[in-house]
Amino acid sequence: MCGIVGYVGREQATPIIMEGLRRLEYRGYDSAGIAVINGSAVHAVREVGKLKALRARLEKEAPRGTTGIGHTRWATHGVPSVANAHPHHDCTRSFMLVHNGIIENYAEIKDELLHKGHVFVSETDTEVVAHLIEAFYSGDLLEAMLSSMRQLRGAYALAVISSHEPDTIVAARCGSPLVLGFGDDFNLVASDASAVLSHTRRVVYLDDHQAARLRPNESAISDLGGNRLEPKIKEISLNLSDIEKGGHPHFMIKEIFEQPSLVSDVLARRISPATDEIRFSETRDAELGLETVKKIMIVSCGTAYHASMVGKYYLENLARVPVEVDIASEFRYRNPVVNEETLVIAISQSGETADTLAGVKEAHGRGSRVLSVINVEGSSIDRESDATLYVYAGPEIAVASTKAYTAQLLSLALFSLYLARKRGTIEPETYDEMIGELRSIPAKMQWILDNHETVRTCARKFSNAPNFLYLGRSYNYPNALEGALKLKELSYIHAEGCSAGEMKHGPIALVDSTFPVICLVPDGKVYEKMLSNIQELRARRAVIIAVATEGNEDIARHCEHVIHVPRVHELLSPLLTVIPLQLLAYHITINKGLDVDQPRNLAKSVTVE
Ligand code: G6P
Repeated sequence: MCGIVGYVGREQATPIIMEGLRRLEYRGYDSAGIAVINGSAVHAVREVGKLKALRARLEKEAPRGTTGIGHTRWATHGVPSVANAHPHHDCTRSFMLVHNGIIENYAEIKDELLHKGHVFVSETDTEVVAHLIEAFYSGDLLEAMLSSMRQLRGAYALAVISSHEPDTIVAARCGSPLVLGFGDDFNLVASDASAVLSHTRRVVYLDDHQAARLRPNESAISDLGGNRLEPKIKEISLNLSDIEKGGHPHFMIKEIFEQPSLVSDVLARRISPATDEIRFSETRDAELGLETVKKIMIVSCGTAYHASMVGKYYLENLARVPVEVDIASEFRYRNPVVNEETLVIAISQSGETADTLAGVKEAHGRGSRVLSVINVEGSSIDRESDATLYVYAGPEIAVASTKAYTAQLLSLALFSLYLARKRGTIEPETYDEMIGELRSIPAKMQWILDNHETVRTCARKFSNAPNFLYLGRSYNYPNALEGALKLKELSYIHAEGCSAGEMKHGPIALVDSTFPVICLVPDGKVYEKMLSNIQELRARRAVIIAVATEGNEDIARHCEHVIHVPRVHELLSPLLTVIPLQLLAYHITINKGLDVDQPRNLAKSVTVE
């Protein structure tokens, strides 16, 4: 949700900032802009639309100078327009500022500033901060930022430059992520480490209510009271190749194809080859009370919410703990019954989703312990939790989540088995069987990727369908929701996911011969029930595409198209059935000529509530 980057050093700032923005574009792409200090003037260039529009402008007028900031926007306050694009400035245009987050009390600050004669030119909440800094400035940019921070409510990561202090960037954080990158003769600031990685691996993650002054050879971090803090420098373990497309045309397809190796790596990391024991060194079992916990509450958003739903089935079936699942934005405001006896699990790829983070804080406020299931190490939710279980999906760049989802499912399956073992709710034979089945997943995923011709055929045939319905039951009900989400967010085709049992209670009214219905029917306990639902749909002339177990010849008699997935224990079947759904959404989107990595109106990391 907006990406910010800044550079101060001896090199030209513009190309470095633009490269950083390219890495951060997944955070929003409604507009982009940069500002660079040149002598005593600040030169800003802003454009509506994706970064390529700004890049084209810069070919004609690249600002020169060695201190600068940049921004890629996901609009909250004010439509995407040049006036609303960042960087924003004060009345004198001597302070330029970029922001990620929402200033909740901007209206009252704006009224006060208007009263004092400040002139505003945008509809954004951000602009008030530039004017506040102008109002507080008396020769020290860091001091002006700290004074401004004391007035602000809401979430922000900020970076400001000023012609009064040409070799300085001041950055600040409260609730939105911000990382400082330290180099020799230069320093950087960015929303995440990928934007500094080609220049340095030495970083500091700023904490809430901290600000930093960066100069080419100097960095100073201070708390809100102006007290100097020692930086906690970390080394980034990412590689540049992890954040490139690696020969694939899009990040999404690269990430879909990474799933078999990702699962192999996680299994090797988590399951002892000698004893088959599952290892979770990071869960701090005693502190979390894993053996005695009475209830688990899972909170999350988007795709992570669908993974949470599968997690409920896993935890209840294997570990026999009652589990509730809630969308983080609902959990927060519904007065949930969670307390010291509840373990709250927060699931998030980015670890930055504002609602999930707020849910974690809410849970802590009610005395619960929080275990988070996270992909991005060092993220806000990671740091806010009592313990974190990393899913090790690697960087996920495409806005639509794919490999992080399967990594979440896998970690939840492993964690449920681990908990079942600890709580004595699983027979040794069942445990052994599940370990064997888990180890078979990478090869089965690879088989799906190598044999997805039917998916392509369906994509060609149905790219112009106006609606899709996705149905599943039991372990595959959440995948019906996830499949529909993938299709609608990428291709803009209306798609609904629904529990097959609920279909008769409404969705079936929509169905006619123009309506493809994707039915998830792997072999298992609910197979017969799914077949009955398919018959009900066929009686209404629906076009059925089934995702079914390889070797099941019967299903073809009931459906127009069958996409096969290899046989696996039904509990693990969501790890396989989701892959054709990801591929279908991908191919339909490509057929429609749309931007599969950056769908309209979305952002990968939703850092506003
Ligand atoms: C956004 C992304 C989704 C993601 C959701 C939750 O909507 O586009 O792909 O599932 O946020 O994000 P999180 O990082 O918390 O998993």
